[in-house]
Amino acid sequence: MTRSLRLYVTWLVGAALLALLVTGLVIRVDPAIALPIDGSQGPIDVAAGIAFWTVVTLLASALPIQLNSGVQVAVSTAPLMAATLLGGPTAGAIVAALGTFDIREVRGRVAWYGTLANHAAIVLPVITAGVIITSLRGWAPGPVWELVAALVGTLFYFVLNLGLVSLIVVFRGGHSMREFWTRAETTNLWANLLTLAPLGWLMARMYELPGAGWWTTLLFGVPLFTTRVAYQRFVEMREMFTQTIGALAQAVDARDPYTSRHSQRVRQISVDIGREMRVSAAELEALEWGGLLHDVGKIGVPDSVLLKQGKLTREERMIMNAHPVLGAQIIGPVDRLAPELPVIRHHHEWFNGSGYPDRLLGDEIPKLARILHVADAFEAMTADRPYRKALSGEQALSELRKFAGVQFDPEIVDAFVRTTWAENTRDPGRSELRPIPMLGTHAARLAQQQHDAPAPGSPAADLA
Ligand SMILES: [Fe+2]
Ligand SMILES: [Fe+2]
Repeated sequence: MTRSLRLYVTWLVGAALLALLVTGLVIRVDPAIALPIDGSQGPIDVAAGIAFWTVVTLLASALPIQLNSGVQVAVSTAPLMAATLLGGPTAGAIVAALGTFDIREVRGRVAWYGTLANHAAIVLPVITAGVIITSLRGWAPGPVWELVAALVGTLFYFVLNLGLVSLIVVFRGGHSMREFWTRAETTNLWANLLTLAPLGWLMARMYELPGAGWWTTLLFGVPLFTTRVAYQRFVEMREMFTQTIGALAQAVDARDPYTSRHSQRVRQISVDIGREMRVSAAELEALEWGGLLHDVGKIGVPDSVLLKQGKLTREERMIMNAHPVLGAQIIGPVDRLAPELPVIRHHHEWFNGSGYPDRLLGDEIPKLARILHVADAFEAMTADRPYRKALSGEQALSELRKFAGVQFDPEIVDAFVRTTWAENTRDPGRSELRPIPMLGTHAARLAQQQHDAPAPGSPAADLA
């Protein structure tokens, strides 16, 4: 555990304990949560009510869904909010503290500080939501206003809970705050879990309803379970999609023994550069899938060209250079991959306009394609090819530096240097600003030569 994470967890747990103590002393538990055991609505009934909601919340928390970011979600928000609506912030906090254990925690698979932090990150937001609901409800009695109060309270609960959890994820390392908040899963989570707020309100109303009673709450198990199943399916579908794309990329790489794992590595390098440049989560995803699929057009390049050891003829080079366009055509019909199309089509454009297929210049080249171009070049240079040995990291980096402004966007090369791929590698630094050579000059000649035997001193990347 890092020092900052330890400090944060200590602060979080301390704040939750303090809040629990203060609310417990100041705000009484509303007897509406009481479960009629002796009918007196006294302490025994109230305790039975809290125990009842704790069990319901435990059942709803038992099978959480694991997201890619390492965060878990469960449908326990509905009973948790119902308990808060009925008993107020103190009752809600007790239910939150005891009722949100999941199976992994019970089996001791989560470190003790993780369990404490998870529960504190729920208790604090529940207390806040409870206070908001209680004060809003005081303004105007009536079921409609109460529903509004429940929605507002749940919204605060979500924002605070996600905020506290995102800090844990950030302190644990690996993700930026922006990435966490804009992840597609988190966005979907909002839409999905906000439906749990009205469900929580309904559970609370049914519980109180004369003639209905506590047992009606159990009927809500069905919609809660289907919500969970739907969410699970969503996560699984995404996983399957990523795996299918990975398999496709592997099929492309496998045709050439010299490029095995090329796409996987390009994906990793691109994503790391993207993180360094603080691109959004959607852009990171486009880099991830774009990295895997960038050379998918090579499916259409015959073996006689793809695997040729000698110099390519003009016609063969034209066939080879068609792979970005072909790749974009192959992926075109997949609606979900629309953001990746420009990355695939333009990953061989040069910063000075002498690349292909569209000879875009500088900022005309989509940013993600410029990122992928650097990643692709570095990967190609540091991997063995039939006609040359792999360059060392240092040689490859000095090539990137040398051709920054010509082939590569200098800012992206700067970002690459900050990633772990360039760690412990001597960086020659940015060369003096040079004017962008125009078409037909030095750079364009390089583009002609480099297909076959790029020696150190000329960019080795265009085959990638
Ligand atoms: Fe390529
Ligand atoms: Fe490539």
